Amino acid sequence: KTVYLAEYTPFGFIVEDVSLTFDLDPHKTRVKSRIAFRPNPEATDKTFFLHGENLDLISATIDGKPVNTEQTDEGLTCPVPDAPFVWEAEVEIDPANNTALEGLYMSNGMYCTQCEAEGFRKITYYPDRPDVMATFNVTVNGPHPVLLSNGNPVKTSQHHVEWHDPWPKPPYLFALVAGDLVAHSDSFTTMSGRKVDLNLYVRPGDEGKCAFGMEALKASMKWDEDVYGREYDLDLFNIVAVDDFNMGAMENKGLNIFNSSAVLASPETSTDMNFERIEAIIAHEYFHNWTGNRITCRDWFQLCLKEGLTVFRDSQFTSDMRSAPVKRISDVIDLRARQFPEDQGPLAHPVRPESFQEINNFYTATVYEKGAEVIGMLKTLVGDEGYYKALDLYFTRHDGDAATIEDWLKVFEDTTGRDLSQFKRWYSQAGTPRVKVEESFELDELTLTFTQHTPPSTATPDPQPQVIPIALGLIGPDGKEVLETQTVELHEETQIIRITSLEGRPVPSILRGFSAPIVLEQDLSDADRAHLLAHDTDPFNRWEAGRTLARKALLGIIENGASVDEAYLDGLRAVITDDSLDPAYRALMLGLPSQSDLANTLYEAGKAPDPAAIYDATETMRDVLASHLKDDLHALYKANQVSEPYQPDAEQSGKRSLANAMLSLITRAEGAELAAQQYAAADNMTQQLAALANAIRVGQGAQMLADFEAQWKDDRLVMDKWFGLQVMEAKPKDAAATAERLTEHPDFNHKNPNRFRAVFGALAMHHAGFHHESGDAYTLLADWLITLDPINPQTTARMCSAFQTWKRYDADRQNKIKTEVARILATRDLSRDTTEMLTRIQGA
Ligand code: ARG
Ligand code: ZN
Repeated sequence: KTVYLAEYTPFGFIVEDVSLTFDLDPHKTRVKSRIAFRPNPEATDKTFFLHGENLDLISATIDGKPVNTEQTDEGLTCPVPDAPFVWEAEVEIDPANNTALEGLYMSNGMYCTQCEAEGFRKITYYPDRPDVMATFNVTVNGPHPVLLSNGNPVKTSQHHVEWHDPWPKPPYLFALVAGDLVAHSDSFTTMSGRKVDLNLYVRPGDEGKCAFGMEALKASMKWDEDVYGREYDLDLFNIVAVDDFNMGAMENKGLNIFNSSAVLASPETSTDMNFERIEAIIAHEYFHNWTGNRITCRDWFQLCLKEGLTVFRDSQFTSDMRSAPVKRISDVIDLRARQFPEDQGPLAHPVRPESFQEINNFYTATVYEKGAEVIGMLKTLVGDEGYYKALDLYFTRHDGDAATIEDWLKVFEDTTGRDLSQFKRWYSQAGTPRVKVEESFELDELTLTFTQHTPPSTATPDPQPQVIPIALGLIGPDGKEVLETQTVELHEETQIIRITSLEGRPVPSILRGFSAPIVLEQDLSDADRAHLLAHDTDPFNRWEAGRTLARKALLGIIENGASVDEAYLDGLRAVITDDSLDPAYRALMLGLPSQSDLANTLYEAGKAPDPAAIYDATETMRDVLASHLKDDLHALYKANQVSEPYQPDAEQSGKRSLANAMLSLITRAEGAELAAQQYAAADNMTQQLAALANAIRVGQGAQMLADFEAQWKDDRLVMDKWFGLQVMEAKPKDAAATAERLTEHPDFNHKNPNRFRAVFGALAMHHAGFHHESGDAYTLLADWLITLDPINPQTTARMCSAFQTWKRYDADRQNKIKTEVARILATRDLSRDTTEMLTRIQGA
């Protein structure tokens, strides 16, 4: 069944107040509900339908009298009075057998919930839609030391806690946690002087991994006050870590629930990248308190209203806490790796989709990351002042609302006087716009002709021109900037810009800071790109110049074994050895375009990419870098060692990332001796894991791998790394076999999403391994998706996107993928989630 945005109608009833009582039991949890309804004067359809799935209904009454209900797999209806009434029901549920990890489920003996998007209906009968907001009173009875729900505790005795959440909320923000947990506690005093108790609840044994998350939480609370004027609104803020979780984390009101991988951290067990990600996710979930909870979404089509905005806010936070250019470059790498393939393939959908079968399939890079880019463009167009004025109005006008994208755009129109009707296409059109820029220079005048074109897709067959902010500057022949960053707004299909009074032809630096989520096509010579690599004042475009040269060099190797341009290598060397530049930035400069990205470039040029040739070219390129930089490698490795005690901050982690980039080139040239030294000396996971990865890569990691396993066998999060790394570092021909062998390891557990993703996420990301000509990886992944689907449809469906790029490849690979996709689709009782994903992928 397909749901359409255009078919929205309000619910026929308003919920005044909700009381829930849970009597916890692994297989027979009883949930009693008491819900006060009254007719909604704004609704025409007065059908009383309550969602409910996998519930065993024990009793139902209206105003105390038993009612006859009509039940289906999706919910129930019954006759109701045309006046306020009280619905009471009791249901029984089975959390211990809830392997889908949606609704109330168990993880390592602890109870927890995940209700977004439509999980509340697996807990009790309810109008499970985000525009039905209510205050909740929750009583939890159970033999556990910790019994948590949303809001503030109002009554606590042994094995019994009553909670009250004074803020009306949609059911997807409901949460309950019970178990034998320990708290790492702290407090935060808000800008108006209220003291908020903060707790991070973890399993006994994980107490030592809480400090960083707690600091990140306090920093987030402070930042949201300073930058957006947003204050926290309860006396208590709880975070709980759980091992079995489908996504990263969840912003339940006052009770955030986190995948333990997204919150637990210690120097010995977490890498610098883990720390940065944890800081960002804590911030993200905390920021949802305003952008998501206080102002929520009218319906799930509006998901980007909270997710795009909250991702945008968390990237602002990370830019402020760490390095803004490094964050921007990392975000663009991620956007190109995850969102572009989605937007350019069969799964393409607008930032605000217009139909879906299973909403869980739309928690995508397009909704989240492109959604955040759209907000970034809006901010560029209206300026910082306009942006914060609009946000202030958004918070005052819509506090307590279930809002829409129209509401969101209206606050910008009202505060800035801008007409955003064309801009709105960013929300309704799928596909990545391509902007071609042609340049001519005469006398003292530069003419830039911009032409935009969005390739049509099933979701958007006839795309119209978008509003595209293009930040640009000019770098003179002497390397000095002759025009500072300006923003040009494209509205038309073709637009011409003229810049006069120039002394000599400058090199245009276009799309600075990646000012729009587009593909820029600009014909610059290698010499011009090298000029930008050496002189661009915009750190993003300086990096981009290097990246474009690297891509050209790689394509040259793939297509005709060309040698790498010396000017590029010298330019790169100059940047890498420039001590005035941030080490993290220099490390990013050494990164190469991904193999998947190269495959796409070839596909777009009308050639079928050969994954093996792409892999080999990437290896060759790294050998070339190692040999060209050989005189600097050891010096840079030494210069970037950290002697101070480990800190996961930007400065130290930048040094480690540059040193580890050197280590990988050194290992390539000289073998694993230095890696072994680093492994032996490492007092933190960043250094240990980098050493291990390098040793495996050159075939000298067997002993280290065994040592690592012996050292960390009891740490689930570290063991996820151990599983993943072996697949990531396998030779293409061994990748599928390695993954298969790992599934036979006693600690492989496909029911745990982190462990499943460690192996199969790594396999899907291993371009040459996944697309190995044998087709073994396709078959293996399909086998496991068939196994996992009845257990956990959500994680299965997400993993199906591994097949989304099938059209790029040759007929043989296409056929192999099509066969596997069809085989999965032919499975009996395949979930709605997986069916929708694969049908869309197939339909390309
Ligand atoms: N709202 C959460 C976040 O972005 C994501 C939860 C999505 N969960 C799901 N099952 N679709 O922070
Ligand atoms: Zn979110």
